[in-house]
Amino acid sequence: MINTQNIEIEKTKHSKLSQTDFTNLEFGAVYSDHMFVMDYKDKQWGGLRIVPFQNISMSPATSVLHYGQTIFEGLKAYRADNGDILLFRPLDHHKRLNKSAKRLCMPELDESAYLEGITELIKLDRAWIPNQPGCSLYLRPFMYASDEFIGVKPSSTYKFIVFTSPVAGYYKGTVKVIIETEYVRAAEGGTGFTKSGGNYAASLLPAKLAAEKGYQQIMWTDSKEHKYFEESGTMNLMFIIGDTLVTPPLSTSILAGITRDSILTLAKDWGVKVEERRVSVDEVVKAYENGTLKDAFGTGTAATITQISTINYKGTDLVLPGEETRELSNKLNKALNDIKLGKAEDKFGWIY
Ligand code: COI
Repeated sequence: MINTQNIEIEKTKHSKLSQTDFTNLEFGAVYSDHMFVMDYKDKQWGGLRIVPFQNISMSPATSVLHYGQTIFEGLKAYRADNGDILLFRPLDHHKRLNKSAKRLCMPELDESAYLEGITELIKLDRAWIPNQPGCSLYLRPFMYASDEFIGVKPSSTYKFIVFTSPVAGYYKGTVKVIIETEYVRAAEGGTGFTKSGGNYAASLLPAKLAAEKGYQQIMWTDSKEHKYFEESGTMNLMFIIGDTLVTPPLSTSILAGITRDSILTLAKDWGVKVEERRVSVDEVVKAYENGTLKDAFGTGTAATITQISTINYKGTDLVLPGEETRELSNKLNKALNDIKLGKAEDKFGWIY
């Protein structure tokens, strides 16, 4: 166990708070004043500190720059009407970070150091939590390999940093997506279930090609046959077919989304029929054709619930029903937001 009583704090002398326009936030464009840092060496974490948000200096030979040993998380803090600061499922993010660490051959993080680090950081930068509807303080914990060594091996030193950013929603409104039938995001047995940098790097070219055709995101399909849905962009994928909420099951190629889990938990609690099973492209196209495809949406921390307006498959647009008709996803979105903001009962113990 790490003694977390000893987080050293160096406060900034140049706060950027007064220069930040909270009425015009984008996702991930401004950063608050401080960051939490700790170092791994000699097989243990130490040097817990909060310092002013600043650049990192590193050798060109730093391991992460060459072999991509880097993982991250994304979680959000909200301000309740009574002034309380609420974090959504921080311990689940910690667990997932450690799963990513294990797969990428990186050291796991002690829960108390992680939690105390982010708690102290948010206490210090609490004025950065936006009040505007749909906005929050996004926390970006990440870890990277810091050895100065270009032989291919797991690094023996790492840095863990958490910085924060006041954000609006990731997407503005609904998205048009294209079903990917050439590239893959992740294959079974790979790192698709982790939040590691390489997964996102691999998605950039297909996403750029989709954007050139007028689609904001990709619907990823399986690596063997391009027959079954996986995820969409940086989100988990859900469909409402008839009266059933259907989503691909977790696997080594799909991220275990915390919003995914929250939505499934809420829906089941309300008595909605939920199926976690393979969903084929054929099934969705047929459901569209016979009028039973009621909704399709992505879920994620950054995106929350983002409804899909149009699905392009092999050049044909499937145009989905208008947002106002999507009763269940609208209701789930509101219910989840109310829990996050402390406006509804936290029945599942998600709020810290
Ligand atoms: C999140 O939803 O937190 C994500 O990780 C998406 C991010 C890559 C923008």
